[in-house]
Amino acid sequence: MAPTILITGATGFLGQYLIAAARKRWRVAGTFHRTRREDAERLLAGIDSGKIDLTDFRDVRDMLDAVRPKAVIHTAALADPNYCEQHPEESLRVNLQATVNLAGLCGDRRIPFIFTSTDLVFDGTHAPYAEDGPVSPLNLYGEHKALAEQTALDRYDEAAICRMPLLFGFSANGRIPFFQRMAGEFQAGRPMTLFGDEVRTPVSGAVAAAGLLLVAASGLEDITVNPKEMERVRGILHLGGRESLSRYEMGLQMLDILGLPPSLAEPISFRDVPAVAARAADVSLDSSRAYALGFDPPPIRTQIERLLGRRAEEKPNRER
Ligand SMILES: NC(=O)c1ccc[n+]([C@@H]2O[C@H](COP(=O)([O-])OP(=O)(O)OC[C@H]3O[C@@H](n4cnc5c(N)ncnc54)[C@H](OP(=O)(O)O)[C@@H]3O)[C@@H](O)[C@H]2O)c1
Repeated sequence: MAPTILITGATGFLGQYLIAAARKRWRVAGTFHRTRREDAERLLAGIDSGKIDLTDFRDVRDMLDAVRPKAVIHTAALADPNYCEQHPEESLRVNLQATVNLAGLCGDRRIPFIFTSTDLVFDGTHAPYAEDGPVSPLNLYGEHKALAEQTALDRYDEAAICRMPLLFGFSANGRIPFFQRMAGEFQAGRPMTLFGDEVRTPVSGAVAAAGLLLVAASGLEDITVNPKEMERVRGILHLGGRESLSRYEMGLQMLDILGLPPSLAEPISFRDVPAVAARAADVSLDSSRAYALGFDPPPIRTQIERLLGRRAEEKPNRER
């Protein structure tokens, strides 16, 4: 029987893409938290799923004993920097404490633990950021994620810390990601303002999921865990794309693909929009180590075309 892989945050943006990709190969179990049960059942139809607050250590331990996963990919988080800035205690519990607890519990079981961190552990002034470079977070979200990375590794030195770049795609959980909003506005012929000076190395949700599964699969061999392979992927990995660009430049590519005028995208500066959490200018990731392991993101244009269904070969099973 295929091994069970546990995905926390299965109702989240990334969680949905991971579930779709992982179920092709593994038995998948997913967790959710505040999503209404009926919505979770719709989003996670066909997989084992459970509601849990990951900040409750005993509940997490009991869940691991019940599900007995062969690997855990931890995507559950409070991922909105502005929310974290305004709710520091909650961010500390979810983004730091829950992560460290999970790392420790996976360490006790010697199973692969893959933690999704963020490019926002960097301040945006010295891009591109290498996988072995020092962190320099500008806001609480980045600070708590950076602390979680180090403490999780202290607790379980085989953990894989995957720093994710800006992710784009569609979501069915009712929270509309920027790419989905952009596609909706442009296709309706409406203009949209987009940051022209906030630069990232984005990848689509599907490409990110493929990268995370590559890392998880390194530690799994059929139904057994292979410690040698886990060693290969332990530590910090960047799962960034190959191109540095702003949301405005992504918008221009989307307009070109859709055959719409570039004037529908209006560049603005993030410095002109007040935000609770400080924003970083350029957190482009150098993902050399992940590329050497086989992570291979396609060009951004190809990823956008796939999402918009403009690539014939993607039609039958294309990204949502
Ligand atoms: N999206 C991006 O562009 C991006 C960029 C860089 C890094 N990342 C990282 O990638 C990961 C996934 O991000 P995302 O955008 O998919 O996040 P998301 O859409 O906000 O989803 C977060 C998930 O975490 C769950 N969750 C939150 N608090 C929880 C708790 N106390 N107990 C259990 N589950 C809890 C949520 O469950 P409910 O919804 O059911 O409450 C949801 O499933 C995160 O680690 C994030 O930091 C994301």
